[in-house]
Amino acid sequence: MSERTYPPTPEFVRGANVQGMDGYRDLFNLAEAQPEKFWGDLAEKEIFWFEKWSHVFEWNPPFVKWFVGGKTNVSYNCLDRHLTTSRKNKLAILWEGEPGDQRMITYQELHRLVCRFANALKGRGLKTGDRAVIYMPMVPELPVALLACARLGIIHSVVFGGFSAEALKARIQDLDAQVVITADGGWRRGKEVRLKPAVDEALIECPTVKHVIVYRRTGSETAMQEGRDHWWHTLDEGVSEVCPAEPLDSETPLFVLYTSGTTGKPKGIVHTTGGYILQATLSMKWVFDLHEEDTYWCTADIGWVTGHTYIVYGPLSAGATSVMYEGAPDFPQFDRFWRIVDKYKVNIFYTSPTAIRAFVKQGDQWPKMHDLSSLRLLGSVGEPINPAAWEWYHKVIGGERCPIVDTWWQTETGSIMIAPMPGAVPLKPGSGTLPMPGVLADVVDLSGKPVEVNREGFLIMRRPWPSMFRTLWRDPQRYEENYWKRIPGNYLTGDAARRDADGYYWILGRIDDVMNVSGHRLSTMELESALVRHPAVAEAAVVGKPHEITGQAVVAFVTLKKGAWDHDTLGEELRKWVAHEIGSFAKPEQIRFSDTLPKTRSGKIMRRLLREIVTTNSVTGDVTTLEDLGVLTKLAAQHDDE
Ligand code: WTA
Repeated sequence: MSERTYPPTPEFVRGANVQGMDGYRDLFNLAEAQPEKFWGDLAEKEIFWFEKWSHVFEWNPPFVKWFVGGKTNVSYNCLDRHLTTSRKNKLAILWEGEPGDQRMITYQELHRLVCRFANALKGRGLKTGDRAVIYMPMVPELPVALLACARLGIIHSVVFGGFSAEALKARIQDLDAQVVITADGGWRRGKEVRLKPAVDEALIECPTVKHVIVYRRTGSETAMQEGRDHWWHTLDEGVSEVCPAEPLDSETPLFVLYTSGTTGKPKGIVHTTGGYILQATLSMKWVFDLHEEDTYWCTADIGWVTGHTYIVYGPLSAGATSVMYEGAPDFPQFDRFWRIVDKYKVNIFYTSPTAIRAFVKQGDQWPKMHDLSSLRLLGSVGEPINPAAWEWYHKVIGGERCPIVDTWWQTETGSIMIAPMPGAVPLKPGSGTLPMPGVLADVVDLSGKPVEVNREGFLIMRRPWPSMFRTLWRDPQRYEENYWKRIPGNYLTGDAARRDADGYYWILGRIDDVMNVSGHRLSTMELESALVRHPAVAEAAVVGKPHEITGQAVVAFVTLKKGAWDHDTLGEELRKWVAHEIGSFAKPEQIRFSDTLPKTRSGKIMRRLLREIVTTNSVTGDVTTLEDLGVLTKLAAQHDDE
């Protein structure tokens, strides 16, 4: 824990949307005391409604509705409402492809692109309530696809381009999607990442998909299936530019985003319309302190929730100018991000601790090559940021002048929950600081009782909030059991945390079998089930090992079926297998073979011990419940042989 605190400079406070601790406390206290008034007033001020709601929320734990009976449209809020203001010709997206190509798209132009594509979707017979799976590179047509779906009430589900055909198939099937929107490929580290072939492979077993729309990005040869596959540019020919946004009920599902849980099956997190767009918009102002003249850049991929809320919906609804970049941070060399900051004069920059640690490792010469003086605010998301990386970010990138907003939130929460308002809250490196107004967080023990100051406990939310997920796709029972049963009536985040004497939150990591690798959530069960699908594997146990750059790395312990296996080649084959079953970002760093795995008498694999082996190379924990101690010693010893 770092003792040093960083209050905002008087100059920053003067220009900020929320000024000083009093400004923060006023909002927080009002939200706590009068939630209906607080959220109702903000919804009226910040969001366009076709029809006003009858009441602000309806809470039947664990199910909630926000702005009940209200009619709105997210695409309208992100586009149409700006067209009658001075934002009409403001840049919405400053896009740069990895090869260096550029596009500058105004709000008016983005609106035109979205209306055209929405009409193309309509032309395929798609309508409110249908499901579109989107598997695309980071090109402007990706936000266009999201906004076109939102315009019509088609539920979209973006699958990160790094997922394999198998993972894509599972998601399409779970949703019974009617359409897949994809591209020939995209650029990453100078190479083409092909996407359409994975779609073709996935669709062999997806009978519900009637249409595939393919955007041409790389221009490489692409097989098209007659009747099913259409080029984006062909559908776009002669299509009307008029496509009114549908007035949708506030609770209409907007998107489903899959995330790893504690079982082998990913969870389909369902977000809806009115409440989501309200908090996405507000957090742009409160946390990123967005001003009309700012150039804002979030480096995430739209395949993850950060990209949904903080590249597409939040910035556009708030009328921001955003940078969007297609490729890798180290291409063609390690200064790419800083080159972009300099070139577009970025003011607000939002990235992950993994990226920051990778930059620290490459050295200060890369940022020093560029003028970063346009930056005024920095952000971090996805995993805890260690104080050393924080200090580097603050000094080398922020020139000691930019506050850093460390933002804690989740796919489930939809928007930022715990983070400093930069013109109000003094920073402590490594802490997300204080909850947003309306977020009633707590740190409790298993009985739901708050733990003492600085004690570790479960991070929970005591009240529903507007951008909260509503359920799991077609699985309300799992929703209830996973999140609401353990501490009845409260939302269990799955993170451990402690709160210090100033009420600041410190996130200590997950309490379940979910790992966080490079800020991506991976489930041990999902990895283990992928491994045991391989014909050579009898059993697998996966644990996370601390990693200097990615936070955690995946280590898999594997026992094999009878046979003469060559461990070296099989190890590599299993790593590739995981890439095939899930995606290359999930590849284990290490595969360790063993005759048996340590188990309790009841037959449960003792991951805690394996974790200890990979972390410290020794075992000191309680081993009285272990079935075979010999196994453990052997596993620990194996490491020395490597
Ligand atoms: C972790 C990403 C510490 C946490 C937006 C959470 C963080 C999970 C932070 C959600 C942070 C996210 N500090 N830990 N600032 N932000 N996490 O769903 O464990 O991909 O539960 O959403 O990431 O990951 P998800």
